[in-house]
Amino acid sequence: MMSMLKTVADTAPVPAAAPVQIQVRGVEKTFAVGAQKIVALQNIDLDIRKGEFVCLLGPSGCGKSTLLNAVAGFQPPTKGTVTVDGRTITEPGPDRGMVFQEYALFPWMTVAQNVAFGLEIKGMSKAEIAERVEWLLQKLHLQDFRNRFPKDLSGGMRQRVAIARVLALDSPILLMDEPFGALDALTRRTLQDELLRIWEEVGKTILFVTHSIEESIYLADRIIVMTYRPGTIKRDVAVDMPRPRDGSAPEFNRLKRELSQMVMEEQQRFSQDEIRSVTAD
Ligand SMILES: Nc1ncnc2c1ncn2[C@@H]1O[C@H](COP(=O)(O)OP(=O)(O)OP(=O)(O)O)[C@@H](O)[C@H]1O
Ligand SMILES: [Mg+2]
Repeated sequence: MMSMLKTVADTAPVPAAAPVQIQVRGVEKTFAVGAQKIVALQNIDLDIRKGEFVCLLGPSGCGKSTLLNAVAGFQPPTKGTVTVDGRTITEPGPDRGMVFQEYALFPWMTVAQNVAFGLEIKGMSKAEIAERVEWLLQKLHLQDFRNRFPKDLSGGMRQRVAIARVLALDSPILLMDEPFGALDALTRRTLQDELLRIWEEVGKTILFVTHSIEESIYLADRIIVMTYRPGTIKRDVAVDMPRPRDGSAPEFNRLKRELSQMVMEEQQRFSQDEIRSVTAD
């Protein structure tokens, strides 16, 4: 049993000396909704090192997706900057691959065609594409599904295809917005393990949004807990436990209690806000 788990358990922690790859400085993001101004992000300073697995954790509405979108370049901040490898981000780029919660696959393409899509655009040769697609289908256990269409796949399988498609582009950074949020618990755990395995093997930097405390402890090197409106960084928690992590271990539970307390405080602010907005209507 131990040997089966070995690859994940042997993960070398990211050396503290790894260079900073993503740098967020003084980021603020405001949205105007009618006459109301929503401060979605405020004073965000964050450094993510190359190869790190970082989770953004917080209740609904605390700005997790807004921050991820700023790093992705979909929604530039109102103030402040995001740099990747020293370059200021103003738009999406091939250095950052994004995986969304909903399965953003092309319904008219088979699994293999979906995975190959970005490579064709990149202008790779047919032989290179075939080789890369084959490797990815194997990696994500999709070989028997290569000719299926997305509508004939389970949610978990579709999300594997979405991950394979992003990995095909070989971006050094993966941005993931609740990618497993819609999956049942067992499928979710399987995909979490596969993501960790791939992360180890190909050495990507991962910024992963979740509102699941357990998921963040299971996956991350560091958990960034966010506050609700304005979205700020409440705590930056290093998770210093070997992988695979045991959800029943005392250390796991201690951290879970600590994080639950923090998230609950923010969740309460969110609930109060919702009640206020309903009574104001
Ligand atoms: N395009 C927009 N226009 C107006 N307000 C927005 C927009 N996008 C986000 N917001 C607001 O900004 C805040 C942060 O939203 P965001 O989607 O980043 O939260 P989140 O932490 O990802 O929440 P969830 O867990 O529900 O996905 C929320 O209050 C949201 O209503
Ligand atoms: Mg979100």
